[in-house]
Amino acid sequence: MADNKKTATLEFGDTRVDLPMYSPTAGPDVIDISKLYAQAGVFTYDPGFTSTASCDSTITYIDGIKGELLHRGYPIDQLAEKSHYLEVCYLLLYGELPSAAQLEAFENRVTRHTMVHEQMHNFFRGFRRDAHPMATMVGVVGAMSAFYHDSLDINDPDQREVASVRMIAKLPTIAAMAYKYSIGQPFIYPRNDLDYSANFLQMCFAVPAEDYEVNPILSRAMDRILTLHADHEQNASTSTVRLAGSSGANPFACIAAGIACLWGPSHGGANQACLEMLKEIGTPDRIPEFIARAKDKEDPFRLMGFGHRVYKNFDPRAKVMKQSADEVLDLLGVEDNPVLQVAKELEAAALADPYFADKKLFPNVDFYSGIILEAMGFPTSMFTPIFALSRTVGWISQWKEMLGDPGQKIGRPRQLYLGETMRNYVDVEDR
Ligand code: SDX
Repeated sequence: MADNKKTATLEFGDTRVDLPMYSPTAGPDVIDISKLYAQAGVFTYDPGFTSTASCDSTITYIDGIKGELLHRGYPIDQLAEKSHYLEVCYLLLYGELPSAAQLEAFENRVTRHTMVHEQMHNFFRGFRRDAHPMATMVGVVGAMSAFYHDSLDINDPDQREVASVRMIAKLPTIAAMAYKYSIGQPFIYPRNDLDYSANFLQMCFAVPAEDYEVNPILSRAMDRILTLHADHEQNASTSTVRLAGSSGANPFACIAAGIACLWGPSHGGANQACLEMLKEIGTPDRIPEFIARAKDKEDPFRLMGFGHRVYKNFDPRAKVMKQSADEVLDLLGVEDNPVLQVAKELEAAALADPYFADKKLFPNVDFYSGIILEAMGFPTSMFTPIFALSRTVGWISQWKEMLGDPGQKIGRPRQLYLGETMRNYVDVEDR
């Protein structure tokens, strides 16, 4: 825990309470209210956790004003340009960039865990073919705890490590299987001669009937997408994983909970919702209609891929994603992609509109990712599963950090109760 040289004083009525304050290495000071109820008999109230730090962490830091994202201190734009996903996984898990030998050993470990238990294939056959791949992933990842009994004990560091590597290695295989099942094609096994992202692409797009050559530019673009989505402080799905883990639930159950939370359109489901919105807009002349709807308080419609709880500036990931979108579409000869055209004109129109400027609503990571994924050949239903397989390392790193905290206890928030006070039961004949 950080040192507390400062104190905050809370006074109300006859009550005066001194609360310790801690200063972080970056970001705002925090006031420790953990003893507030015991000392003053009151709770704090912050339903969306807009002003609440749920934990201390050394993994990722976001500066929403500067539009900065650091993983263990390294800026995301440098990692996206100079590193690659599995190296970022190592950084998030162990805190430092690996040596060449450490990286090779880690990549070999992950590569040799990419296959899933053959009997897990049966799970998929129980789903409808038109099931959303996220429904399949929630089910299959949760069911991993029915197979990998030698990595369930969260109190055993070795088992935590094996479970971590297994999930990083197997999520792409499971996501690819969910995709193949949804289109009625046979599952494609992982290949140990391919790197992580190339392997994922071949498991998704190869067919047994012919050889499949991974396009290195698409593989690099996929790797960059995975790198950009790897971790993001205490977002909704990461907080879900931490809360599930705080009860001692097994690692596979915790990650399945994270996948479920990520699915929501306000969170990881926004990439699918954003592309569907861009297609619904269809042509640049309809942009004003949708901007007016987004501004209309009576209309629940929101501009998907815009806005963020923390970023009140450009999401640094969106900048890298936008550059990647241009490269991929240029490579595929679809640089005049109408959806990308609408996206660019929508972005320009929104950023020029006082409503979005005043509320500091900028494109987020989900605004451009869908355009790249669709250009690669993925259906919109696969966008969030790809976000989930990337974020698995972030969830696991945060889960491990929580379990390693000696002060860790089960998360159990209180409430502001506004319901009925005690009243006696009334027999039905007297109602
Ligand atoms: C992710 O937390 C993370 O780090 C998440 C994430 C990660 O990597 O884990 O970054 C991934 O989830 C990115 C966000 C993807 N979601 C979307 O793109 C969906 C569209 N965006 C919105 O739903 C919204 O911006 C949120 C959910 C992202 C953030 O919502 P907040 O912080 O709760 O903000 P808010 O709803 O209180 O909005 C503030 C104001 C409101 O207007 P007023 O009530 O003040 O008048 O801004 C308006 C909102 O109506 N607003 C929007 C808007 N987003 C917010 N208006 C129109 N379009 C939008 N997209």
